[in-house]
Amino acid sequence: MIMDSGPTTFALFAAGAAALTTSVVKLKSRLALSRAKHRSLGGHSRLSRRVAGLVSFYAYDESQVFRSDDPPEETATARRAGFMRLAKLYAERYPQTMRLTTDVKDGISDLQFTDTYRVPFQFRELVQRHLSAPAFVQSSQGVVLTDLDGNHFYDLTGSYGVNLLGYDFYKGSIARAVERAGELGPVLGSYHPVVADNVARLKAISGLDEVSFHMSGTEAVMQAVRLARYHTRRTHLVRFCGAYHGWWGDVQPGIGNPIPARETYTLNEMSEAALRVLRTRRDIACVLVNPLQALHPNASPPADSALIDSGRSAHFDRQAYADWLKELRAVCDQNGIILIVDDVFVGFRIAPGGTQEYFGVRADMVTYGKTLGGGLPVGVLCGRKELMKRYRNNRPLDVCFARGTFNAHPYVMAAMNEFLRHLDTPEAQAMYAGLDALWNARAERLNQRLRERKLPVQVANLSSIWTVSYTEPSRYNWMFQFYLRAEGLALSWIGTGRLIFSLNYTDADFAAVVDRFVAAAEAMRRDGFWWHDPAATNKSIKRRVLREVLAHRFGRRADRTP
Ligand SMILES: Cc1ncc(COP(=O)(O)O)c(C=O)c1O
Repeated sequence: MIMDSGPTTFALFAAGAAALTTSVVKLKSRLALSRAKHRSLGGHSRLSRRVAGLVSFYAYDESQVFRSDDPPEETATARRAGFMRLAKLYAERYPQTMRLTTDVKDGISDLQFTDTYRVPFQFRELVQRHLSAPAFVQSSQGVVLTDLDGNHFYDLTGSYGVNLLGYDFYKGSIARAVERAGELGPVLGSYHPVVADNVARLKAISGLDEVSFHMSGTEAVMQAVRLARYHTRRTHLVRFCGAYHGWWGDVQPGIGNPIPARETYTLNEMSEAALRVLRTRRDIACVLVNPLQALHPNASPPADSALIDSGRSAHFDRQAYADWLKELRAVCDQNGIILIVDDVFVGFRIAPGGTQEYFGVRADMVTYGKTLGGGLPVGVLCGRKELMKRYRNNRPLDVCFARGTFNAHPYVMAAMNEFLRHLDTPEAQAMYAGLDALWNARAERLNQRLRERKLPVQVANLSSIWTVSYTEPSRYNWMFQFYLRAEGLALSWIGTGRLIFSLNYTDADFAAVVDRFVAAAEAMRRDGFWWHDPAATNKSIKRRVLREVLAHRFGRRADRTP
């Protein structure tokens, strides 16, 4: 008995020490993960979902809408008059477009959603009653859209980024595609011969070995991540705070997804702490990068519905982002992590070779979409040979399944071919040369005009992708989208957070946009929406809104609720 106690005690001690070591290691890695999160709510997916669940709806009534920042009475009156003038203008100018929008809204859930999330929710009721955005357009030509009432709008929506070369190009590419693939028609499963040329061109553009075709950017990203998990035999994907990669669950771990994404880490982009996590964890299969985030690292897509103050900011530093991607590449190499560049948005927009060419980084996989379809819906994944393989030679039942009815649709493939072949033309090459210089100069021209007029608005840009920010504290910046529409500038439902220009904008077109943009800002200022208490700051506005939210949640009226 006594003889035995030595080894038994030792064994117990060793087991205890091992358990303690494991716990300490786990704790350390947990702490490293916490440190690698961005401090915003967007950086904490679970918490953000919990907080979202706590916010109760409340709306300002008609008199409160214009007094949320305690303006002088004449300012509130001017705001109300300006708002009603816009409402009258919308009703008189867009009658048929509005009638159809109103008639179908009940039956289109997407439209109900976008129309609801256009402005901060407190202001929503009055806006929806009077300034609902018309949802229909009849035609496009050059850089102009025409609605059902014959009104013309300069298009700043860029069709979510699809419209790179101008709508007329895509009309032509679709028409030629229908002609080229027409003899085959919508035969699926077998390929139209044009696929061979597309594959060769995509391999050359991406510098990668294989290609798979999908129906949307979301699907291409899904397939990239699934393959990365299959080949690394690891579970987790890393995405960076605020980055959009489509709408499937694993890349939307926070607000918007009803269930938690348990195998997703959301890390702080451009941070040493994130690199440390990538260097040390063993469960990370891949890192997803959306280079659009270079314009606003760690911030969500800048929708006007989140414009409760003027805190939104953006600044693009190409060199800093290139340096970050280089560090990321090196860490991925060290730890066997697949680097997936999601070029669905910026691919072909910033350079023919996308992010890899523009920032000088090599990816293991690249996803493309949007404009690559030549005007038709598409997603494409390019990757290294060993990563694209969907089965194992020595384990015949261990496959990584991916199919899709409409993959490689003949019409889409033919339209894509029109787009890809256009990239080789001298016209396209001339367009890409000096692209940034052109769009940076245009952004500066607009900013200069805004500064000269002392208007509290500025733009920042990543080439032809722009975002508007506001330079003085205000609760009403979201109104600007409605003034812009009244001046004939069409924005997407995100509003002023994202303007996307097609590259066929001439200097004359752009000059007209500048004039209208400035006129819209002047009208909004005249109507008193940019009045602010000299003591107000973005922080004080946020604090006040928070107080209101808490008061409505917990059933008390906040002392300063309007
Ligand atoms: C970077 C990025 N990835 C993926 C997607 C999803 O593409 P889709 O809307 O075609 O599914 C988008 C769409 O905006 C995107 O910008």
